[in-house]
Amino acid sequence: MTAALPYANGPLHLGHLAGAYLPADIYVRYQRARKRDVLFICGSDEHGVPITVTAEKEQTTPQAVVDRYHALNKTAFDKFGMSFDSYSRTSLPMHYKTAQEFFTEFHRRGILREKQEKQLYCERDRMFLADRYVEGTCPNCGYTQARGDQCENCGTWLNQVDLIDPKCKVCGQSPVVRTTSHWYFPLGDFQPRLQEYIKERSDRDGWKENVLRYCESWFKDGLQDRAVTRDLTWGVPVPVPGYESKVLYVWFDAVLGYVSSTKEWASRAGDPERWRDYWQNKTTKYVAFIGKDNVVFHCIVFPAMLMAWNDGGKEQYVLPENVPANEFLNFEGQKFSKSRGWGIDLQDFLRFFPADTLRYTLAINLPESRDSDFYLKDFQARTNNELADILGNFVNRTLAFTEKSFDGTVPAARHLGKLDKEMLSQLKEFPDRISQHYERYRFRDGVIETMNLARAANKYFNDSEPWKTLKSNREQCGTTLNICLQVIRSLAILFEPVVPGLGQRIWSALNLPGSPSEAGWDGAGETALTAGLTIKKPEILVTKIEDQQIEHMVHSLSSGPSGEAPANAPAKPVITIDDFKKLDLRVARVVGAEKVPKSDKLLKIQVEIGSERRQVVAGIAQHYNPDELVGKDIVVLTNLQPARLMGQESQGMLLAATDSSGKLAVLTVARDLESGSAIS
Ligand code: MF3
Ligand code: ZN
Repeated sequence: MTAALPYANGPLHLGHLAGAYLPADIYVRYQRARKRDVLFICGSDEHGVPITVTAEKEQTTPQAVVDRYHALNKTAFDKFGMSFDSYSRTSLPMHYKTAQEFFTEFHRRGILREKQEKQLYCERDRMFLADRYVEGTCPNCGYTQARGDQCENCGTWLNQVDLIDPKCKVCGQSPVVRTTSHWYFPLGDFQPRLQEYIKERSDRDGWKENVLRYCESWFKDGLQDRAVTRDLTWGVPVPVPGYESKVLYVWFDAVLGYVSSTKEWASRAGDPERWRDYWQNKTTKYVAFIGKDNVVFHCIVFPAMLMAWNDGGKEQYVLPENVPANEFLNFEGQKFSKSRGWGIDLQDFLRFFPADTLRYTLAINLPESRDSDFYLKDFQARTNNELADILGNFVNRTLAFTEKSFDGTVPAARHLGKLDKEMLSQLKEFPDRISQHYERYRFRDGVIETMNLARAANKYFNDSEPWKTLKSNREQCGTTLNICLQVIRSLAILFEPVVPGLGQRIWSALNLPGSPSEAGWDGAGETALTAGLTIKKPEILVTKIEDQQIEHMVHSLSSGPSGEAPANAPAKPVITIDDFKKLDLRVARVVGAEKVPKSDKLLKIQVEIGSERRQVVAGIAQHYNPDELVGKDIVVLTNLQPARLMGQESQGMLLAATDSSGKLAVLTVARDLESGSAIS
């Protein structure tokens, strides 16, 4: 199994997890519990223009950027419970060697074509504007911020010269067209075989509808030759004379990162050739987990590259058996956006809440067939009403009862009544039912079904009324408890792929050796707990989340007046006057202000901006009484995308300053002016 290699160019957010990583990890953990020989490969994608752009902005080197984010993302993934066997990086020598080997082989066999092509060139910066160095209007959908290689809005893989009104990302100037030479991979030649391949694999393993739709639209347009070299300095050098100053296209090297990451793993394991057991073994089932924006590269480009290699007749690589790509996850009804500061980074989230609670809510909301949403209210409700009240409660009441009434030892099951038999027959069926979903990459359904077992078990506990039978028929009470404890053992195994931390804790509470996955999925429907076994004292499994905790996280993480600006914030990179002109700042008169209910930080402020009325929500309640503000002329950023904070719509952002002691002041205007006046 592989999961898309994330760019080491920024922190991971919840959207990444929902797209590729959580489903991949659930699948891998499930397969391990089935005792299949699984290797789970990932790593950082360390090339590409965004990384060099970040480095330029921060006046540092690309290597420093990727070093920082590789370490950060690796740690965040660990905390989230990702069970990678290898998390490598594409800036390692092993990766360079692997990528160059593919290029050299293709070049030697005459597969690649050299072409003189028109490319956009910035005369001021004296460089070709590869990929994301250029932005313009998408010829397909009209989105105005399409990049040179891809439009983020409609997903089209673009030829940069087709961009309408292109602009250099570095200086903002319009580029000119110049000729340069590059090596092209003949993707079009592979179209018939690719179509056949996708048909065959999707018939066999059931590819997802959304993935097939993307592929079909690519085929319909007809595949073209694609340049696999770039006029850039950061990347894998092109191993051909005359190309010393060029590098491989980031996607050409990145997909091979899966192979090189596996090689790293094999070397570390002391058996450098062992990577072949997976990549060059006909019986391997290779599944590549990705987000929807990666479909073309994994369903078309990578398989074509592997086919081209395999045509050489030497080593034969396996092609993906399935590419289960998810759609996008939104946050509170809007797209995640780094530039707008919308969304929550993984490492931040995990400072406030345990990974299992996040994994569970994400799993239930995975964007498997369409975009979906993550709402903090839903996160709180799922944690409290499902993880705590259903799963946690069942485990806890059973353990507490056993502790109190049976000295903490598993009682024997004697005569089975109707309810007992029903519970046991349900228990038998569940592992298979959940498997069916997981085997078909339907993780939401699998997780919902898993919780259904805990639901059924709670009902069984209630209907059996052990608190009554304890006095009237102790043997029957023991039978009930025995069965409940059996179910708990099963729940530990079945929940482990989704909430590995909880699975292990439940396992340990039963005082069982090893781990739930070692015990194995196939025995999860059995009654394998022996009577007489001593269990541990119950502890709270899942802590409920209070409103204030959510609020606390939101306010600790958001910066600016809606939260708290970091004191002595570091200076920011230089911007142009055009950047500044994008901000529509206005003088606004405060005509009303009140506290937001249930929030100790937020004020809801009504302002008049010329003839217009707006509501602005700001995190300044700890610094101002609402009354103090009324009548003041303040400064509001009016063209910021509206947002909702604690259920209140905010239609702008007021400006405020914070000093190093944390004192905050709202900006006001030093002379009487009409409201609505523009600020420049
Ligand atoms: N870095 C890419 C992204 O985040 C994914 C690369 S996947 C790989 O969209 F296969 F190319 F490595
Ligand atoms: Zn320029």
